[in-house]
Amino acid sequence: MKVLVVGGGGREHAICWKLSQSPKVTELYCAPGNGGIAQVATCVPIKATDVTEMVAWAKENKMDFVMVAPDDPLALGMVDQLQEAGIPAFGPRANAAIIEASKAFSKELMKKYHIPTAQYETFTEMDKALAYIDQQGAPIVVKADGLALGKGVVVASTVEEAKTAVREMMQDQKFGKSGSTVVIEECMTGPEVTVLAFCDGEHLVPMLSSQDHKRAYDDNQGPNTGGMGAFCPSPNYTPELAAICEEQIFKPTVAALKAEGRPFQGVIYFGLMLTPKGPKVVEYNARFGDPETQPLLSMLDTDLMEIFEACVNGTLDQVDIRWKEGAACCIVLASGGYPLSYQSGYPISGLEEASKTATVFHAGTKQTESGDIVTAGGRVLGVTAVGNSLNDAIERAYGASKCISFTDMHMRTDIGKV
Ligand code: AMP
Ligand code: GLY
Repeated sequence: MKVLVVGGGGREHAICWKLSQSPKVTELYCAPGNGGIAQVATCVPIKATDVTEMVAWAKENKMDFVMVAPDDPLALGMVDQLQEAGIPAFGPRANAAIIEASKAFSKELMKKYHIPTAQYETFTEMDKALAYIDQQGAPIVVKADGLALGKGVVVASTVEEAKTAVREMMQDQKFGKSGSTVVIEECMTGPEVTVLAFCDGEHLVPMLSSQDHKRAYDDNQGPNTGGMGAFCPSPNYTPELAAICEEQIFKPTVAALKAEGRPFQGVIYFGLMLTPKGPKVVEYNARFGDPETQPLLSMLDTDLMEIFEACVNGTLDQVDIRWKEGAACCIVLASGGYPLSYQSGYPISGLEEASKTATVFHAGTKQTESGDIVTAGGRVLGVTAVGNSLNDAIERAYGASKCISFTDMHMRTDIGKV
């Protein structure tokens, strides 16, 4: 099969790496790809968000299958257009990808179908929002409804802090239009766990549980990032909790989307909080997580192409999805200054040495004309190792990471600590 993967980060490298091992895949392409992906796939210089160009290229070059990984093209309806062009495509159509793109939509859905999540109210008038905070007390969570680069969530420990957040969003328009509607939520406590699940519109198969580390620095300090590392499985996610989540959250979500005429085909990302009152949904995403995908696919024993095809064909219940024993850990090596400002174009050394004991997924790299690999983004590499235990995987991943260097390289030293 001729297969195209859309995207160009560490997640897409892991997907291409796994697909390149499939006997079903004879030609593998990635658009736009990156310096590491180029080692396992042919990179095509089309932006992931350029829906028209991507569909035209896939048609012209007779792709048998397209996998759309990032949220933007999914929300823009790339899968819809590929399917309409007669090309089998993995990922939700735009009307199902909305569970990530709109917090208001997903909260409504959970309320309607009794899926456990934080109690909430939505406000478009500031006075009413402020009065609600007085009535509810603190701690309380204030969220800008729209997209706000991951900064639109304030977990406020006092009433004053919550009111300041509301004023900044609604009056000062700190996030522009994204903050003209705010969601005010009950503050949940407990460990956070992520479960990704393959979905064919009707059936769902959860992957191993995982956890990521969003803050830039050790001990969860510093600004939020796309993720500085991840591991799987999570020791916090017991078989008892898995059974509860499956019955109360996963199956009802898939059934709700189907009942709403928005069948979900692709990967659903369940961001969960294990509260004293049971597991509750913090957020849904409509795609594989980054960097969770790097350790997860390192643990997958089944042919990924076979799973993708089953999701598209509605036959996921007929696939036996198997995982390795043990655990996997991914350490992100970032450019100094990320997620704020940083420099690019620095040569990277030690890649070959690190690859002897770990898989080095490239996130932001570029191959120069002379064939050298240089930095080309905030998150540069995801060094991923599998071990017999979580500690073993962490040790191997850090051991390999220490072989690599580039100017101003930054990594957290506490990935995997739970
Ligand atoms: P979100 O953008 O909705 O995923 O929120 C970002 C982070 O804020 C989450 O990963 C949680 O750590 C925290 N958070 C969001 N909602 C709540 C809540 N209702 N209670 C406590 N923490 C929350
Ligand atoms: N690692 C978090 C995400 O992919 O949304």
